[in-house]
Amino acid sequence: MTTLSSLNTLDAAGFVAALNGIYEHSPWIAQRAASARPFASLAALKLALQDVVDTASEDERLGLLRAHPELAGKAAIAGELTAESTGEQAASGLNLCSAEEYATLQRLNAEYNDRFGFPFILAVKGPTGRGLTRTAIIDTFARRLKNGRADEMAEALRQVHRIAEIRLNALLGVTPSIGAQVMDWAEIIGAWSDADEGLTCAYLTPAHCRTAAQIEAWMMDAGMQTHIDAVGNVVGRYAATDPNAKTLMTGSHYDTVRNGGKYDGRLGILLPVAIVRALHLRGERLPYHLEVVGFAEEEGVRFRSTFLGSSAVTGQFDLDRLDTQDADGVSMRQALLETGHHPAAIPSIARRPEDLLGFVEVHIEQGPVLLERGLPLGVVTAIAGSSRYLVELRGVASHAGTTPMGMRRDAAAAAAEIVLLVESRCSGVPSLVGTVGQLEVPAGSVNVIPGACKLSLDIRAADDAVRLAAVDDILAGISAICARRGIDEKLWKIVEAEAAPCSPRLMDALGAAVERAGVPRFDLLSGAGHDAMQMAQITDVAMLFTRCGNGGISHNPLETMTADDAELAGQVLLDFLRSLSAGA
Ligand code: GLV
Ligand code: MN
Ligand code: MN
Repeated sequence: MTTLSSLNTLDAAGFVAALNGIYEHSPWIAQRAASARPFASLAALKLALQDVVDTASEDERLGLLRAHPELAGKAAIAGELTAESTGEQAASGLNLCSAEEYATLQRLNAEYNDRFGFPFILAVKGPTGRGLTRTAIIDTFARRLKNGRADEMAEALRQVHRIAEIRLNALLGVTPSIGAQVMDWAEIIGAWSDADEGLTCAYLTPAHCRTAAQIEAWMMDAGMQTHIDAVGNVVGRYAATDPNAKTLMTGSHYDTVRNGGKYDGRLGILLPVAIVRALHLRGERLPYHLEVVGFAEEEGVRFRSTFLGSSAVTGQFDLDRLDTQDADGVSMRQALLETGHHPAAIPSIARRPEDLLGFVEVHIEQGPVLLERGLPLGVVTAIAGSSRYLVELRGVASHAGTTPMGMRRDAAAAAAEIVLLVESRCSGVPSLVGTVGQLEVPAGSVNVIPGACKLSLDIRAADDAVRLAAVDDILAGISAICARRGIDEKLWKIVEAEAAPCSPRLMDALGAAVERAGVPRFDLLSGAGHDAMQMAQITDVAMLFTRCGNGGISHNPLETMTADDAELAGQVLLDFLRSLSAGA
């Protein structure tokens, strides 16, 4: 049986022989990595192999890609694949393609080779290692054909490393069981949606309540004392032996955006639950109480105000929000009462800062930074602040055929200018980003000049002064555009969240755990908002990011990660938790 320690102690030729087949027909990778031994961990070995490819010549990298067979290609049909490839392609049922699927794959293979000059490579065992469906493979193939060459080459190489990762697991008999458990749980609750297609889980809908109940059941099974609080947060407590110990909180949100991803928020609940379960099974207690919170609401989808769950925990929940209505005219108070919650008890959820050791949130990165650096994990330095507004523009609806261009008061044309103003004002300034994510011509008709238009603004930056200056300029610009076009504008601020720096003490503790896992510590800013921003108002916070696949896409069903990265994040989280003392 090959082990990490045998790989570390074999002579160089033995090391290369042991890793034969990990990188398809490319023994040079193991040859060059041999001198970097000993490896502290499997993660360190994987990074060393990846580093060899990163520092190889362009021709060598192309050679590595070209050493791979086509998917369900001629070599597969002729039975000429390596044993590893044969098994992988069969695990995804590629050997069982219908005639139509074969024809599609042959066409895609030919188009892809023509366009990029190397074969399409995909780790067909997928994010969990158990195999993608043929439909998923064909969809990915078609999507990646649209990439530019440099991006696609980088993606193909990432897939080569993912294939190597899965093959290394098999070689060393390693199963990322906690990671796979978390992915399976995410899959189960990811299927409960407000919509027929995709994952939408908005505050207090039937899918949301079902998700909360399931998370609570998993927490109970993990050995935690649980309750669902007045705002819908699912709270699991893994108590220390000393009842007077302080509490470390962790968690994230279980609501989603419309048609969102399965890991945004949920990873940060499910991973700690899986870790507590492992602690409980071993009978191991921590020197402080650990609370895992599934925050009920962070995304702002149903009632437009964000952080409903975490603001209740920090004592900042604005009770006036209870009268806010959703698009169907249901008030938040009504929705809470109808789902068995007690809005009047929301203020009692607030925690006392003196009881807390801190808050740590694990979250998928939702961007491409870790992916492009080939790193599984990152330590967050700060979370960008954000300002959000709703804007209503009112012009004059009139006949599209008879109103001369110079006599129009077109609300949508004003909105279009505003979209471009946001884009230009927020371009070229480090960390500043601006988005108009909602844009609507209510009751518009093809042949009517838009008399009204509604839009949203979302402006974020790491530095509050930079964000606020951009907001001032954009609001002034909107007034100027509207004055020039004879449009009346109304604006509502719906979110104002200051940037939240992470605690250097907790960042260092997380960073040290990352390094103990054999992975270099890498610090990065979070452009996305997180519950940790709210929690920073009452306690020290830190965040651990995990790599996001598929180019870093999130708030999209294509959001993905791997069981191996989840496993590593779990190992780091557990090590971090053990490294903290009762006093900090
Ligand atoms: C939350 O996901 C946000 O950053 O909008
Ligand atoms: Mn989100
Ligand atoms: Mn999130």
